[in-house]
Order: sequence, then structure tokens, then C-alpha cells
Amino acid sequence: MPSTEATHIDSTLTESRKFPPPADFSARAWVKSLDEYNAICKRADADPEAFWAECARGLYWFKPFGKTLEWNFPHAKWFVGGTINAAYNCLDRHLDGPRRNKAALIWEGEPGDSRVLTYQMLADEVGRCANALKSLGVKDGDRVAIYMPLVPEAAIAMLACARIGAIHSVVFGGFSSEALADRINDAEAKVCITADGGWRRGQIVELKNNVDEALKKCPSIRKVLVLKRVGNKVEMRKGRDLWWDELVPAQSPRCEAAALDAEHPLYTLYTSGTTGKPKGVVHTTGGYLTHVLMTMKWVFDLKEDDIYWCTADIGWVTGHSYTVYGPLAAGATVLMYEGAPNFPENDRFWQIIAKYHVSIFYTAPTAIRTFIKWGDAWVKKHDLSSLRLLGSVGEPINPEAWMWYRKVIGGERCPIVDTWWQTETGGIMISPMPGAIATKPGSATLALPGIAADVVTREGKSVGANQGGLLIVRKPWPGMLRTIYRDPERYKNNYFVQIDGAYFTGDGARRDQDGYLWIMGRVDDVINVSGHRLGTMEIESALVSHAAVAEAACVGRPDEMKGQAVVAFVTLEGGRKGDGRLRDELRAHVVKEIGALARPDDVRFTEALPKTRSGKIMRRLLRQIASGDETLGDTTTLEDLSVLAKLRDDEQG
Ligand code: WTA
Repeated sequence: MPSTEATHIDSTLTESRKFPPPADFSARAWVKSLDEYNAICKRADADPEAFWAECARGLYWFKPFGKTLEWNFPHAKWFVGGTINAAYNCLDRHLDGPRRNKAALIWEGEPGDSRVLTYQMLADEVGRCANALKSLGVKDGDRVAIYMPLVPEAAIAMLACARIGAIHSVVFGGFSSEALADRINDAEAKVCITADGGWRRGQIVELKNNVDEALKKCPSIRKVLVLKRVGNKVEMRKGRDLWWDELVPAQSPRCEAAALDAEHPLYTLYTSGTTGKPKGVVHTTGGYLTHVLMTMKWVFDLKEDDIYWCTADIGWVTGHSYTVYGPLAAGATVLMYEGAPNFPENDRFWQIIAKYHVSIFYTAPTAIRTFIKWGDAWVKKHDLSSLRLLGSVGEPINPEAWMWYRKVIGGERCPIVDTWWQTETGGIMISPMPGAIATKPGSATLALPGIAADVVTREGKSVGANQGGLLIVRKPWPGMLRTIYRDPERYKNNYFVQIDGAYFTGDGARRDQDGYLWIMGRVDDVINVSGHRLGTMEIESALVSHAAVAEAACVGRPDEMKGQAVVAFVTLEGGRKGDGRLRDELRAHVVKEIGALARPDDVRFTEALPKTRSGKIMRRLLRQIASGDETLGDTTTLEDLSVLAKLRDDEQG
């Protein structure tokens, strides 16, 4: 259970740069001014149910809903009695007009192959796949595991499940067979959809072999559907394994979309965060779709002719909400890229943006910091003038990384939407509306309409301007998780017992004098120095603002005098070497930026930081390393285990 030990978190970040939305952007935006944003918020606050009902009517309902919300804390039912289908909303709804022939997916494979599927073509493929699943005995309510590379068939498989009411559980293709087995077993999935392999940095990821290994311990799986992607040799077990390429194309493209209850589960997605056993977050249909559809307009300001690229893998919630369901429900053209950003070279992303004229680009701070490390020359080789909007998600973005993103990628012309949300929230909660809200580097700015975010003390009292506290949401919202799969107690204990009557996010935040929200990181990561509780984000941002530093992660180490001492793990800009002098300089730099209080006792230089598969820094692990603890617990979500060994060997400065 995330703790709320803090009554307050001291905030030390002073960032005063501010960028108003460019006038020409605002003129064409869905929401054009702060006044307009305020007016929408006012309407949403005055009558949240009427507001969300109006939003939900932007979707196609087979049967209209009656009551908008049934809220029995902490259980929500949205759009009661309505029937709906996610695949119908993402596909069929667009087939009556000009969108029928619009590109729905533009896909580029890592080796350089590419495919374009129009809405009609995608609808036909989804119909075939849905019929194939039916032929394998998959029914409404059955769970289907999807363990695939980032290819169109991954989205097709998700939508095919949605079409017939099966609940998908996508497992990131980078996870091991062990992690896959745990997730399949928790969900008791009946069918697994996979590929022979996937491409990653020119190497084959042996997906089918991993499935075979996992299935030794997964009695619930009856059939495995295998897409041929890389053409490597795999074992096909008779009676269990079938080739996608033989089964799916032979099906009829027509498959009626099931009219499902608004609260029918759409998917489960396992999230481990940075600690503990993975939990199966459950999202349902009507509310989730409402949330992701609205945010495509509010946050991404989506227009009919945009080419929209979210770089997240479909194994993460960002891929679910903002590669598949949100943009397709909104009728967007979605770009999908299968592989690594540095294959064959460090400029692959920029090359793709130039090649397809991408206009909206949505990525993660961990990627941005990597690009900074690789150097501007890779970016400069390409024409990025098609870009009009940039987005960030997944971690706090340090002001210096934000400034680089704005300048080097956005040509100082594109607004940046720093979007705060979680697997649990389903869709974006806090973010600027790019045509309406002036941005400040490092701030996710303001909550979206209808999202009752607040920053509070442990007692649930709102904190004053520029004080840190706990980030909560006071009212239910349509996209919220409904439960943890087969663990309703954990649902309650994780999110609804800390602050009376509210959803607790686990994050710390501060609201500044303009009401802007600044996310300070996970509350569990807060460092307590001599009774001052410091958010990790702020010390890290101070370090990153030093010219030599590429990335930084700070953790607390027990200290007799101060309670905790700050230990900073630091990676350096291309080629620089850490030494005693630089270490002293960095410590002094933090003192200058923040104050003596935050001065790291220890600065350790490392080549890379340990990260979860989705790119979040694993501070829990760093905490253990910093305090010399050798029992490191479950590290199956580590990006690169070698990093660990390296860290422990690395000498201090
Ligand atoms: C962090 C990803 C600061 C936060 C969509 C949250 C962020 C967790 C931001 C959820 C942001 C995400 N600024 N922190 N813009 N976006 N986070 O479930 O700690 O993978 O609680 O969902 O990431 O991560 P998850």
C-alpha cells in the first residue's frame, strides 16, 4: 500500500519561464483560450454528470444509457444501461463517410518495410480476426493474452477481442516468459496471440519460444495463434498452435460487433509500478472510451489531417489509450513504428517524422533524455517542420529536458503537452490544452475539465500555494479503473483508504501561485533530510540543469544525523568522465539551485540507470544499492540487469 506518511513535502523548484500558446495555434485549436477552458471547467464542476453524459454522446451507443453515474464509494458505474462496442466506435462508425478511405494505421517495421491500412481495411482485418477467435471458441467475457511485437496485427487483435466482448490482456513483448506466465495465470486466459518473433535493434526477440516456455505453467491456455513476422523457425504444437496466416485470412471480414454493457470489461493491464506484485488493472468500455476520446481533442487538439505518433508500445497503457482506442475512436491517422529508436542509427525517429510528415509526436522523458545524450546533430539532419504539437508522458520531465524538446525538436514553434496520468486513470488527467494554457517547463499545468485533482495533507486538507502534498482526485471520472482483477481488497487499499473519500494517486505534487500543478514523483520515493521532505524530481532537475549531466536519480540513504542523506546517481553527457572535481561541482550546483539542505552526500557516476521496461527509473533498487543492501528482490521488470552489476562496481567519483 502506498504510504501517506508525509504531512507535507518541501518544494524547492523555482522555475519561472512561461510560454503562452502561439497565436496561430490557438486560432485553430479546439479550445482557444484560458477563458474558454475555464468556462468548460465551470460547466463540468457545476454538473459533472450532465457534462460527462454530453461527452459520452460523442460515441455511438447501440442503446442509450439511462443514469450517468452510480457511485458507491469506491465503486463506479458509468453510463448505466447503455450498450456499446469499442471496436464499432473505432472502426464501423468511420465507414459511412470520407474516413472510410483515410489511413487509420501507417506502420513502419524496424527493417524498413511499411504498410498502410485504411479504416475500411482495418475494419475488415478486425472482422476476420474476430471470426478467427470465435472459431477458437473465444466468447464474450473470456480472457485473451496478447504478446506481440508492435505490428498492425497487435492492434487488430485488441480490436477483435473488443468486437466480440473478449477481455484482452496485452503483455509487453519485452517481458520474459516468467512474467508472461504470471499474467496469463492471473487472468486465466484461454487463448494467447503471439508472433514467431519481433525485431529489436536488428535482433530477433523470440516471442514464440517465450510463449512455449511460459505455457509449461499455464493450464488455462487452449489455443495459441501465431503471426509470422520474422520467419524464424519455431515449434508448433499440434492441436494447440495455429498460424495466424492460415486461419485469419480465410475468415469472413464481417463479424457483428457485440452490443456490450457500458461496464463490460474492455481489458486488464498488469502494472507493477516500481514495486510489488503486478496488479491487473481493469478498465471497462463506455467510460474509458469517453475519456480517451475527449482527451484526443482537449490535449492533442486532433484535426482530420494530422499524422499522429505515440511512440509507446501497446504493452503499456499509453499504447492502449493513445495508440489504439483514443486516436482510432477519434478517426485519426496513427503512425506505428515497430522497433528501436537507434536502429540502424540514432536518428530513426527523426527520419520517420520527416518521411511521414508526422504532426503530433508523443513520447516519454526517458526517451527525450536519451536523445539529448546522443546529441543534436542526429536531429539536425532531418526536416521536422511538419510537427505542430509535442507531448510527454510517464515521468516528470525535468525543465532542462523540456527546454531541449521545445527548442531542438519543436523548433520553438510547437506547444508541449506534459500529460500526467496513470494506468489506473485510463486517460490523461492533468495537461495543458495546447491552444489555451500557457506552459511552464516541468509543469503538467492544470487538471482537465471534470477532473477534480487536488493537493492535500495527510488529513485531506488542501495545501496552500507552493507547498508540496499528496495528489488526489476527489470525484470519480469515466476512465477510472473499476477494480484490480480478482482482488477488490487491493483496489480499495491501494487507492481509497489513504485520503477520506478520494482517490489517492501515490504521487506528490505542488500547486503554484497560478494554480499550476507540478508533479514531484512517487510519495514513496520522497527523501527526508533533517525533517524536510524533498521530492526526487526537484533535486534531479537541479542536477540535470548542469551541462555535464544527462540523467539523474536521487534516493535517500539512512543517516544517523539527518534521518536520510541524498545519494545521487548520475549519467553524463556523451563521452564525459566523472571525477572528484565534477562530483564537488555537482554538489555545489545543487546547493546553488536548491540550497544546502538538498546537497547530495554522495554522487555516483554510472553509465546507465536501472529502469523498468516502460522507462521509469527504479528508485527502490537504487535505494538498496545506496544503502548497501544486497537482497534486491524482484527485478524481472529491469531494462538491463547488467546495469545493476555495473552500478555496484562503479567507484564513487
Ligand atoms: C508518473 C503512464 C510526472 C507518475 C501513463 C504516475 C508522471 C506514473 C507523468 C504512472 C507526468 C506519468 N509527469 N509524472 N507527465 N506521467 N507520471 O501507470 O508517477 O505507467 O503515477 O502510466 O508515472 O505510470 P503508468
